[in-house]
Amino acid sequence: SVEQKPDQSTSMERTFIAVKPDGVQRGLVGKIVARFEAKGFKLVAMKMISASKQHLEEHYADLSSKGFFAGLVKYMGSGPVVAMVWEGEGVVKTGRVMLGATNPADSQPGTIRGDFCIQVGRNICHGSDSVESAKKEINLWFKESEISSYKSCSESWLYE
Ligand code: RTP
Ligand code: MG
Repeated sequence: SVEQKPDQSTSMERTFIAVKPDGVQRGLVGKIVARFEAKGFKLVAMKMISASKQHLEEHYADLSSKGFFAGLVKYMGSGPVVAMVWEGEGVVKTGRVMLGATNPADSQPGTIRGDFCIQVGRNICHGSDSVESAKKEINLWFKESEISSYKSCSESWLYE
């Protein structure tokens, strides 16, 4: 119904999406943002940030035992990233589908990684892999005051 408020609905989720340093350097911020906008998801937070080593080690803590961990942290700290929070029904899972497989060699054409990059170590974007990790990541990257709550004018044309 038109009375429904997405921010409070249980099916509404938030995910953390970041354009990695290579995506920023390659001028792909706009294209990545445009895909999420065109889909209908709502941008509720966005900032450019050069993350510290400690911050990135915390962000990717689950991968700390991997051989590529040090390289990953160095890559993510090699320049500014564009950190975002997107909101919408099923945005965590759908966001991952839109990003494509982790290794761009396996990412389908039409996905962000499938269309814009080649190697797993330069895969231009990050997306939370579950609602739980999304909550953790949003908390790590944003203060509550940096996240906007507003009613989108398209809401009633996106949700029945
Ligand atoms: P992300 O967290 O960045 O969205 O990527 P993901 O969930 O698709 O993949 P994840 O397993 O969380 O890996 C995080 C990032 O680490 C780099 N990676 N390198 N050299 C390698 O084998 C390798 N594997 C992963 C990628 O940049 C990947 O996105
Ligand atoms: Mg991941």
